[in-house]
Amino acid sequence: MGDRQAIGVGLLGLGTVGAEVYRLLQDGDALARAAGRPVVVKRVAVARPDRPRQVSVPAGDIVVELIGGIEPARSYLLRALSSGKSVVTANKALLAAHGVELFAQAESSGAHLYFEASVGGGIPLIKPISESLVAARLQAITGILNGTTNFILTRMAHEGWSFEDALAEARRRGFAEADPADDVDGHDAAAKLAILATVAFRRHVRGVDVYREGISRITPRDFIYAKELGFGIKLLAIARIHDGEVEARVHPALVPLDHPLALVPDEFNAVLVEGADVGRIVFSGRGAGGAPTATAVVGDILAVARHLAAGVRGRSLIGAGTGTRVRPIEDVVVPYFLSLQVIDRPGVFARVAAAIGEEQVSIASIVQKSRGEVAEAILVTHDAPERAIRRVQDRLRALGVVKAISNVIRVEGSV
Ligand SMILES: NC(=O)c1ccc[n+]([C@@H]2O[C@H](COP(=O)([O-])OP(=O)(O)OC[C@H]3O[C@@H](n4cnc5c(N)ncnc54)[C@H](OP(=O)(O)O)[C@@H]3O)[C@@H](O)[C@H]2O)c1
Repeated sequence: MGDRQAIGVGLLGLGTVGAEVYRLLQDGDALARAAGRPVVVKRVAVARPDRPRQVSVPAGDIVVELIGGIEPARSYLLRALSSGKSVVTANKALLAAHGVELFAQAESSGAHLYFEASVGGGIPLIKPISESLVAARLQAITGILNGTTNFILTRMAHEGWSFEDALAEARRRGFAEADPADDVDGHDAAAKLAILATVAFRRHVRGVDVYREGISRITPRDFIYAKELGFGIKLLAIARIHDGEVEARVHPALVPLDHPLALVPDEFNAVLVEGADVGRIVFSGRGAGGAPTATAVVGDILAVARHLAAGVRGRSLIGAGTGTRVRPIEDVVVPYFLSLQVIDRPGVFARVAAAIGEEQVSIASIVQKSRGEVAEAILVTHDAPERAIRRVQDRLRALGVVKAISNVIRVEGSV
């Protein structure tokens, strides 16, 4: 096979992921066998000095974007797609914010747009969900999509550490960025969930459509009480489809200790998908890191190279896309865990239970811990709409016997 027929790759970014992709792309013979034609890196662009800053779209039939962030990545990719070049990207932030525009541009130019590495690093998710499971009519996705927060929560659960101490350890080990907000406030998981929901339900879900709460208010005591009731605590990313309406949320949640996601440790990621015909399927593994993520990028490059070699035109996974109605969080119905500090005297629990019952919320279990003057009351409710739980909290605050609502955490799985 001569170089004339080679598929050229232009690599934008040579950082953690880009450098590993470059390394994998040096194995020319294996790539040529997998793609049916040689695949060669024609040009590499990075940010820093020794080259003009104004990169035009790199030469090559496939542009591989591993810069990250919105601009200039967005402009480069739109330019590449509009000139008919196919794109492979790992950029979750860009896809979650501007996927609609990028997919539309790819569709109208007949270019391929692949993004396996944008969610779950080295764990194959996009292809299995969009191709292998295309007939499965998936109804729900529940994931641990952020390794940093899963590491922090695992350390809190196992060592009894505070959130701050566990975050400091994550930093020491290089999992957390200097500014950890993207991870701990759930932005990263929300962007990934938007991409998974878009692919699974074939309707555009944007990062901003995802309801989001981070993990910083979870305390070691929440873990102790959750465990006594048979639960762990995870930052879950949850998307469901109900009659064309999508529910999409990222927040800490109690999960039963025998749930498939409860035991996913440290920086690992896992995704549970569910559909009536396939039941439950779990994907798990390393959700980040240069080498695992690069394997997903190179898998995409080879898939696109095979299409280009065969003259196959690109087709968007979602087509033109339809407007998606996203269920407001107030309408989401789940069980809740409430941890309250109450005055320790007879009759108090009856008053708390009555206040909860007045909002038509029923209690599944209750545990009391006496601590002298003040007792802690730990309750798990049956399914209740978020709006009712907000009213329950107002009622509880108004009761003189409730000194504080220490935490309110949603419960996933089953009570
Ligand atoms: N790291 C992971 O584990 C991981 C996992 C999954 C997905 N991702 C995604 O992969 C992408 C890359 O992440 P990363 O961790 O590899 O980032 P990184 O280490 O910060 O590397 C970014 C690279 O982009 C280059 N760059 C920055 N601005 C540029 C510009 N204007 N033009 C050309 N090149 C530019 C940088 O150049 P210099 O080298 O000159 O600075 C650097 O080589 C992101 O979208 C990220 O979300 C990363």
